[in-house]
Amino acid sequence: MPPIGADSQIEVARSIESLRARVDGWRADKLTVGFVPTMGALHRGHLSLIAKAASLADRVVASIFVNPKQFAPGEDLASYPRQEARDLELLASAGCQLAYLPDAAVMYPPGFQTSVAVAELSKGLCGESRPHFFGGVATVVCKLLNQARPDIAVFGEKDFQQLLVIKRMVRDLDMPVEIVGAPIVREADGLAMSSRNAYLSAEERKRAGALNRVIADVARDLENGARVDTALRSGRAALEAAGLTKIDYLEARSAENLTPLGPGPLAGAPARVFAAIFVGKARLIDNWPVGGDRG
Ligand code: PAF
Repeated sequence: MPPIGADSQIEVARSIESLRARVDGWRADKLTVGFVPTMGALHRGHLSLIAKAASLADRVVASIFVNPKQFAPGEDLASYPRQEARDLELLASAGCQLAYLPDAAVMYPPGFQTSVAVAELSKGLCGESRPHFFGGVATVVCKLLNQARPDIAVFGEKDFQQLLVIKRMVRDLDMPVEIVGAPIVREADGLAMSSRNAYLSAEERKRAGALNRVIADVARDLENGARVDTALRSGRAALEAAGLTKIDYLEARSAENLTPLGPGPLAGAPARVFAAIFVGKARLIDNWPVGGDRG
């Protein structure tokens, strides 16, 4: 497994065998292993996940695989940004020792027919408008964890529903790995970092900055005792006033199990405000904890 460049320390594995050979070697040396699954097009958000994994484990593996099973026909699978050489340099500089880059034939060989479904947590929010999505995510993450066999795996809180789905899957299937969540990394105006931000024109990018401010305001209103229905109505109006008119959802739910909240004021259990909007070619998601720091 050759390093990718003169200055880079990163190794690249493209097969399950070479991935396991390296991980097994580390285990033989009593080193712990952290894992960060990605679809590439890396940004500072991903690099924060690598840093978190590096703080919790002796060695870090990151995967790059644009998983066809989590895209529906007509979504952006073909146009999803791909920048392998740059991603490898970024991973190396962030403290990742091994990049795992399987291709579709490694992940889904002929005859593949198994899928993993996390029933309840996959419903609602992103599961509503992307019903295929969490099945695709759970299936690929289950496979990646079985292939890499890490001690811990780190997922960003931007995809909060995904984080809960993966935690549930690991618990339900008795998978010997600890799932760790990492905070959202934001641009200067608060926009959550996402590979899909690259789809935004300059004007759309400017408008998109309002998303995080609106959900933070909704979270603050709820914290201050506002009714859920009133706070969400104001939030929708604020999004529309900011030119973010294509709202997929704006909801407040339990932060523990995503149960929808009643229309009245919060009863005290941890809650989070969740939103997804379409801006130009991008579908952007974000969430904000009630009682969270506005940064
Ligand atoms: O969050 C992502 O980038 C993807 O959903 C993941 C976890 C890498 C699975 O393909």
